[in-house]
Formats: sequence, structure tokens, C-alpha cells
Amino acid sequence: MTKRILLSVPHMGGSELPYVQDAFSSNWLSTIGPNLDRFERRLEEVTGLPALALSSGTAAIHLGLLALGVRPGDEVVCPSLTFVASANPIRYVGATPIFIDSESTTWNLDPEILSAFLRARAAANRLPRAVEVVHLFGQCAQMNPILEVCSQFEIPVVEDAAEALGATYDNRPAGTLGTVGTLSFNGNKIITTTGGGALLASQSCLLENARKRSQQARDPGLAYEHSELGFNYRMSNVLAGIGLGQLDVLNLRVRQRRANAFRYRAAFQDIHGVSLMPQASSGLHTNWLSVFLIDERSFGCSRDRLIQRLDAAGVESRPVWKPMHMQPLFSSCEMIGGSVAADLFRRGICLPSSSSLTLEEQLVVINAVRNSVSAPPLKEIPPLPEDLGLDEYTCAYSN
Ligand SMILES: Cc1ncc(COP(=O)(O)O)c(C=O)c1O
Repeated sequence: MTKRILLSVPHMGGSELPYVQDAFSSNWLSTIGPNLDRFERRLEEVTGLPALALSSGTAAIHLGLLALGVRPGDEVVCPSLTFVASANPIRYVGATPIFIDSESTTWNLDPEILSAFLRARAAANRLPRAVEVVHLFGQCAQMNPILEVCSQFEIPVVEDAAEALGATYDNRPAGTLGTVGTLSFNGNKIITTTGGGALLASQSCLLENARKRSQQARDPGLAYEHSELGFNYRMSNVLAGIGLGQLDVLNLRVRQRRANAFRYRAAFQDIHGVSLMPQASSGLHTNWLSVFLIDERSFGCSRDRLIQRLDAAGVESRPVWKPMHMQPLFSSCEMIGGSVAADLFRRGICLPSSSSLTLEEQLVVINAVRNSVSAPPLKEIPPLPEDLGLDEYTCAYSN
């Protein structure tokens, strides 16, 4: 039986194991240790901001919201089109999400809708406590207009860069533009610690607040005294060792993921109704996932049918995230707009995007897509354009 081609799998770079072995031989097998310190320093070198390594990206969002002072009864703006892990922490802190539609250039939070919403809320003296922005599938939201309107109303911004490590906006790394930024090192991300996340912040008080809460919020002193609620959210020193090795190959992973996306695009050039997610000119898109929009009429097959046909050919694919305003969990929440997010969900498909995807495997995926609309199979993948737009990336990231 041939191996199933999965959507996005972990891809070790080769230098991870010595760090893990170090943790074992020195017995640093908990949530403190030299790998953890080094991983945080390396994250700071790579992104330019101090970092706190945590057990997940979800934990990072949770602690970020708490550090910003979001409390029960507050409201927090969040894009509707995202993975549920962006929105759940808003509920963890007892706040209520208000969902906003996407725009079609980046598929992320629409700055115009946000601006109109905040103006209306300011006039009614009911501003939300924070705005969360998400960079979907490896591409940054339009941060300048978002940050501008948020700063006008003095609203802090949580930047969920779980899917966008390696991306840039205006030559600045994803995750470093908001008041706090969050990263994920989940197994399906561009680099992984098997599971993990990080919080980034330029204000040390925010990071220190989160650091304390991530370790059960123990107050200084000998006694185990606690005056605020804490969590067990630190990353393990073993997993930080994996992260150290993975950071060495971040640049390479961006190239590989982008190459996947552009190979697919070249291989579908003669087929109508299938288009790659837009690549906005404001920064570098990592194409963490290769996402395409299907126009059923010109393509000749629905998105759902395509997913079924790929599945039958041993290829895993999945729809674009189901928007939060369409989820039973959030059915009572306010939603501003929604037609763009709903359309992207209805037509979007994520194709296998692992950085370890071989050309042979990618050809199987390509021909399974082509076969679903009776296009002739390709014998080989068309050559890639030389320039994958990585120069910009090299200036923003130092590794
Ligand atoms: C947009 C987004 N936010 C947050 C998360 C949560 O990250 P984690 O799985 O590390 O908790 C993920 C992915 O898992 C994500 O895709």
C-alpha cells in the first residue's frame, strides 16, 4: 500500500537530537534548564523581541490576554476566519469575542470594518478591551491600518502569529508588531517542538506578568504564597532542545513551503477555477499551507468533492477554517460582516504542504487534482520561478 500524503507533518532538521540528549544526560527534564534559556534567547535573536517559551500557542494567547488586563465582562475583537484556538482564550478569561470579517487581499481581519466598528463603539463609549489579529496560513494581516486605528483608541493588540513564523510585514517579523505576539510550535507548524508556543513582547512588564502566571503565579519569598491565579504553561527543557535545532532550519523551511505553493500554481496553470491564495505586496508570505480557491463552475468540481477525490487517491486535504460566526460554540456572539469569511471557507482548500514533501509526492497530489477535472496528468512538475521573493525575508530575520 502506498503511503498516504498528509497535510503538514513535522520535519526535523538534524541538529535537534544532541540538544535533547543534553537534557537527558544533564537531567534537566522539567520546565527549567539550559535549552529553555537558549531557546528563548534564540527566539529573541530571530524575531528581535524578548520571548517566553510556553506549552502551546493557545497558552500564549491566554497569558497575553491576561497580561493586557482582559477581564470577565470585557469584549475582545477577533477575526471570524481563524482556527478556534484564536478565539477560545477570549472565553477562558471570561471575556466575549466580537467577530469581524476578513478582507480579500490577505484573508485576514478587515481594517476598514475594524475602523468603522471602533469609531462607532467610541461614539457609544463602549470600546472593546483588546483587538486580536491573526495571520492566516503564513501571511500577515494589514497591520499598519489596524495598528493605527487601535493606537488612536489606545486599544492593545494581540498578534496571533501561530501560522506565520517566518513571515514579514513591512520588513518586520510576524509576531513582533502587536502589543504582544504569539507563536505556535505545534507539530503541523513551519517549525515544531512537537507541541509548544511562545509569547513575544517589547514591554518587559507584560512578559514578566505572563512568566509568573505560566508557573502557577507564585509570589516572591520562601513560602508558596499566591495572590493571583496561575497556570502550568511552561515549555519543557526537552522540547526547547527540539526548538533549538528547528530554529536553525527556519529559513530553509520558508523556502520549501513557498516552493510547494508555487509548484502547485505552475502545475494548475492550464486549469480554470483554481487559484492560489493571494500574495499581498506588504510582506513575505511563507505559504505555510498551500491554499487554493475553487470556483466550482469553471473548475468543474466542487471543493468538497475535490477533497473526497483526493482522499480516495490517498491525499489528505482540508477546507479553509470554518469561520467562528458559523460555529455553534460562538452562535450568540456579535459578528460584523461575514460574507468574505464564509466565501473563503466555502471555496478554500488546503493541499499537502509539508516542507518534507517530495517532488514525487507532490506530483501525485497534482495529478489527483488534475484527474478530478479530467485534465491530462503531468509527467513532471513545471520548473519553479527562480525568485521566490526571499530577499526581504533575509533582511528581517537574522538566522
Ligand atoms: C491561528 C492559530 N492560532 C492559535 C493556534 C494554537 O496553537 P497551539 O496548537 O500551539 O495551541 C493555532 C494552531 O494550532 C492556530 O492555527
